[in-house]
Amino acid sequence: MLVQQLLPADLFRNQTVFVTGGGSGINLGVAKNFAALGAHVAICGRTQEKLDAAAVELRAIGAAPGAKVCAVAADVRDAAALDAAFARSQDELGPMNVLVSGAAGNFLAPAEKLSSNGFKTVIDIDLIGSFNASRGAFAQLQQTRGCLIYISAGMAYMPHAFQAHVGAAKAGIDMLMKNLAIEWGRYGVRANSIVPGPIEGTEGLKRLANPTVKDSLVQAVPLRRMGTVDDIGQTAVFLASPLASYITGCVVVCDGGQNLVGSALFNRGAEQMLHAAGAA
Ligand code: COA
Ligand code: NAP
Repeated sequence: MLVQQLLPADLFRNQTVFVTGGGSGINLGVAKNFAALGAHVAICGRTQEKLDAAAVELRAIGAAPGAKVCAVAADVRDAAALDAAFARSQDELGPMNVLVSGAAGNFLAPAEKLSSNGFKTVIDIDLIGSFNASRGAFAQLQQTRGCLIYISAGMAYMPHAFQAHVGAAKAGIDMLMKNLAIEWGRYGVRANSIVPGPIEGTEGLKRLANPTVKDSLVQAVPLRRMGTVDDIGQTAVFLASPLASYITGCVVVCDGGQNLVGSALFNRGAEQMLHAAGAA
């Protein structure tokens, strides 16, 4: 992690960052980058043991004296559970300065075989979960003149095969973000999205990218490498920092230029994966 070598280690001291889906992967990487710069960090997800393990890692970073971590189970589809998690975070860590909405579900599925409930499940977690989180966090963010950061995906604006549910959900998140940037700007609350490219070592990449086309995928990325969770963490830190104080309503793409070459390679690999699983 480079972030504490590049920025003052107390940049987010006495600030609270809440990350939905923060128990693993990209979202945990984002939480770690804020912890490394002194923030109090709260994470939620559905699995308490996973959150507890992540909290140990976050506490080990311990960048600022007295920096605290709160790990609380909540399903983002359950607005009341999320509200309770936000209240507990406020009690333990103080009012939220940054909400990172990253909880998501994903799987490859041919549209004609995807059930209505399968489509709805991803909409419920990604899009309605992001609305629940934004609405639940509003009072605290209004108080701190804080910011919202959504973890979107390339499927939001570039169609990927077997991702109809995810494309619809993430496009919805980006438009929700733009609506809130307009409505909540008057309170000094900013809202932006990050679109990660293919991120090494994550559940999302494991589920979606065929390992047999990995080398070709990497070669197709203009910067010739997969992204890291720290690439996304550093983008989130920038968006939450005073450097971005006039940036709101933006979709920030952090993908090594991958979007410039389209989704064709991914689509071919995904079709092979579904064939191998007998699902296409
Ligand atoms: N292909 C097609 N449909 C699928 C599916 C798949 N691989 N996996 C789940 N579904 C469908 C189910 O069949 C069900 O629909 P049905 O009632 O019509 O049968 C619906 O989706 C809900 O499934 P369920 O397992 O009850 O959902 P859940 O709420 O327990 O889990 C998921 C949500 C499905 C998104 C699960 O994969 C998950 O928990 N993901 C979190 C981690 C993750 O996806 N990480 C990557 C983020 S990029
Ligand atoms: P991940 O580790 O599986 O992250 C998803 C997290 O969300 C998990 O910790 C999961 O924990 C939590 N979650 C899922 N459903 C939830 C629910 N209903 N309520 C609360 N929490 C829930 O996968 P990842 O690949 O790092 O993905 C993280 C984010 O990056 C996602 O928004 C994804 O769409 C985005 N993204 C990833 C990539 C990539 O290359 N990996 C690329 C573009 C965008 P529990 O299961 O314990 O609840």
